[in-house]
Amino acid sequence: MRHLLTAGVLALSFGTRELDGQNSALTPFGAAKAESILRHQLPCLGCHTLQNEGGRIGPDLTSVRERRSTAYIAAMIADPQRVVPGSAMPRMPMPEATRDLIVRFLDELPATAPAPDAAAPTPAAPAAAATDGSALYARWCASCHGAGGKGDGPNASFLPVKPAQHASRQAMEVRSDDALYDTIHGGGAIMNRSARMPAFGATLTDPEIRALIAHIRSLCNCRGPEWSRDGTR
Ligand code: HEC
Ligand code: HEC
Repeated sequence: MRHLLTAGVLALSFGTRELDGQNSALTPFGAAKAESILRHQLPCLGCHTLQNEGGRIGPDLTSVRERRSTAYIAAMIADPQRVVPGSAMPRMPMPEATRDLIVRFLDELPATAPAPDAAAPTPAAPAAAATDGSALYARWCASCHGAGGKGDGPNASFLPVKPAQHASRQAMEVRSDDALYDTIHGGGAIMNRSARMPAFGATLTDPEIRALIAHIRSLCNCRGPEWSRDGTR
């Protein structure tokens, strides 16, 4: 009895695998579904490696269960800025059922060797003033898009698609400010582009996104197509 109690207290205080015992393991179908969502619908692998595929901005997700409790993983996915203030990870709104599925999947992944050249996570850059587009860009975007917007950030080579070249006049003058806004706010997936481009709408404010668009316009030294300008910007 004493033993059981001690074990119970330990399990509570360390809380490593809270879901154990309450839920049975994911079915193979559930695991395949979670993996497909992670690889194709969410931006997670833009920044994280999963079984040797993916970006190197954040820690390898393959082995996250060895470092973090179920509760930590769930909290990080639900609201990264609350768990790690200043984190480079934006908050990604998703249905609760999807989040639960992803948490359980990560929590049950069998241990494997970490990716061979996994880089140390990039430390969060200092917070930028809301209207300083260049500082915001350096903080949130440069790891993939490159400091000068040439699509050549340190993380770019780990992505299946080259990040957009914001410094390219040819590429950017055919994009309206609204299209840029929608992609930054809603992510690549909603614009029928690579899902590895994260959505920042739940993390950055409207003035911050507008400052980023102004910065992209200064990088390409161009404006959007004539038809898209409403004269207010
Ligand atoms: C723009 C990059 C980015 C994206 C996109 C992203 N993350 Fe993260 N994530 C990070 C960084 C960076 C950290 C490390 C915390 C820190 O220091 O900022 C992190 C930490 C985590 C952690 C904790 C890992 C640990 O070992 O502490 C989990 C779990 C996690 N992310 C899951 C996800 C999932 C699931 C998704 C997709 C829904 C996702 N992340 C999308 C950058 C990202
Ligand atoms: C994890 C890597 C990553 C991060 C971080 C990232 N992006 Fe992207 N972004 C991409 C990729 C990859 C694409 C290309 C998608 C495609 O072409 O299918 C892209 C595309 C875009 C586009 C679409 C351009 C076009 O041609 O219409 C815009 C706009 C954009 N990113 C802005 C930003 C901004 C602003 C930030 C920072 C707030 C940012 N991105 C952060 C990876 C990233």
